[in-house]
Amino acid sequence: MELYLDTANLEEIREIAAWGVLSGVTTNPTLVAKEFAARGGQLSREGLEAHLRAICEAVEGPVSAEVTALDAEGMVAEGRRLAAIHPQIVVKLPTTEEGLKACKRLTAEGVRVNMTLVFSANQALLAARAGAAYLSPFLGRVDDISWDGGEVLREIVEMIQVQDLSAKVIAASIRHPRHVTEAALLGADIATLPHAVFKQLLKHPLTDIGLARFLADWERVRP
Ligand code: E4P
Repeated sequence: MELYLDTANLEEIREIAAWGVLSGVTTNPTLVAKEFAARGGQLSREGLEAHLRAICEAVEGPVSAEVTALDAEGMVAEGRRLAAIHPQIVVKLPTTEEGLKACKRLTAEGVRVNMTLVFSANQALLAARAGAAYLSPFLGRVDDISWDGGEVLREIVEMIQVQDLSAKVIAASIRHPRHVTEAALLGADIATLPHAVFKQLLKHPLTDIGLARFLADWERVRP
């Protein structure tokens, strides 16, 4: 399972990219808005494009950028603009009727699409049939409503395999390291993680204690 960062923050991307384990980035309007608000900056089209270009240069791999139009015509126009920014850009579309129409049209033009806000296997089936390269089921948000995000992911992964569909499954809305383990065991192709969860993956108190003990023992005999 590949690991993506779910962020629009360049420092976070550069930090994790330096670990050598980062395969891509996903953004969404909330993450982009947070990024620009934190800088006190107003969001302009040029500013957004420059920022997405910088993200593409900071990571080797796909970078999902989401449209904000709600109608297929608007999504296609926005998707074309986003895709033209950089070859690594994948256009993210919501899983709605209009999103399906836009997905079909953009994929026919050779634009890679990530269908987002997937909460059921049937939505995933529709998105895959519309030609999506990626499907993003949201684990955490399903768990938030006391349903089972892992079960939704399990059905989607199995369905993609049984139906021999080509879409890759991105486990999204990851809240904690157990979600990552669960997604990997269930066979997700990719998990997209917030920066904090990426850091948590690596941390273990026994690693810190073990390293401190090794160094203390070494100090006692060091030549
Ligand atoms: C997926 O690509 C989304 O950006 C993301 O995972 C949403 O997660 P959230 O529920 O933490 O906002």
